[in-house]
Amino acid sequence: MYEVDFADVKGQENIKRALELAAAGGHNVILIGPPGAGKTMLARRLPTILPPLTLYEALDTTKIHSVSGVLPDNASLVTTRPFRAPHHTISDVALVGGGSDPMPGEISLAHNGVLFLDELPEFKRQVLEVMRQPMEERRVTISRAKVTVDYPASFMLVASMNPCPCGYYNHPEKECVCGPGVVKRYLSKISGPLLDRIDLHVEVTPVKIEELTNAERPKVTSTDIRERVLRAREVQAERFKDLKDVYSNAQMPSRMVREVCQLNDTGLTLLKTAMERLQLSARAFDRILKVARTAADLAGSADIRIEDLAEAIHYRSLDREGWAG
Ligand SMILES: Nc1ncnc2c1ncn2[C@@H]1O[C@H](COP(=O)(O)OP(=O)(O)OP(=O)(O)O)[C@@H](O)[C@H]1O
Ligand SMILES: [Mg+2]
Ligand SMILES: [Zn+2]
Repeated sequence: MYEVDFADVKGQENIKRALELAAAGGHNVILIGPPGAGKTMLARRLPTILPPLTLYEALDTTKIHSVSGVLPDNASLVTTRPFRAPHHTISDVALVGGGSDPMPGEISLAHNGVLFLDELPEFKRQVLEVMRQPMEERRVTISRAKVTVDYPASFMLVASMNPCPCGYYNHPEKECVCGPGVVKRYLSKISGPLLDRIDLHVEVTPVKIEELTNAERPKVTSTDIRERVLRAREVQAERFKDLKDVYSNAQMPSRMVREVCQLNDTGLTLLKTAMERLQLSARAFDRILKVARTAADLAGSADIRIEDLAEAIHYRSLDREGWAG
């Protein structure tokens, strides 16, 4: 079904790794980088490394697609994970659902799949705001005068953004021409509503021109990455087998985090130091632990190792007070 493959993307090994983590743990991810760095290209390849739909998920997703009338005529079952990429001009009703005869929105069409919001800061603030609650609850309740309907909306959010209006803030070579305060204001457009709910902040820098023109195709394919993702998902399936609607580390209820994501003394010290040094918010704490758990699951490790924790901390760039300060 998907003709694209991660092997189409030259270099960017670290970004591919971040997306492997996202797929393995079901984590939300935001790609931040200058124009042309490959953000859209990378995000569109995420579905190629996700686990296949279970029969239950397929039925559930089919139900929603059928209600919305987006099921192709000849299809009786949705068999691939949805990948929804609404344009940034979308209305809040189209995104979360609604109308006089309440219909599911994009977040429900993305149920059990990916919602890709390319150029996140371009979306209307109101639109991002109404997504907050459904993201937390993984479902959406739409109330109208006479009816209240409830649609599932359990999706992975993948977003992309330039770091600033000109696009070159933090760029290794080009100079950002944005005035003082502009970068911070740009980021603050999305910080409140969404950033808190995104586990992985990934800084994408463009690959060098020599790498881009290198005729050799990267060896690691989507199939290779997907195999690792599947193994990590098996560990999680076992971990969450007694919980309803919890399949991945990202979905783990917070009361479970302390129990499942235990650190040793060295780990605790590292995390505390990092939180202070990077001035991370308390909210970042649980997110870091969940991502570290996923890194350990990918490595087949029962314990969270120091390198798993360090890797997870690394993906909190937008929390850093100094990032756009
Ligand atoms: N690592 C890469 N390997 C192969 N092609 C690449 C790579 N990076 C970028 N490209 C090429 O550059 C084009 C632009 O990339 P893409 O549109 O994904 O950038 P972007 O980061 O989304 O930029 P923008 O912020 O302008 O949307 C791609 O379609 C692709 O052809
Ligand atoms: Mg793009
Ligand atoms: Zn700029």
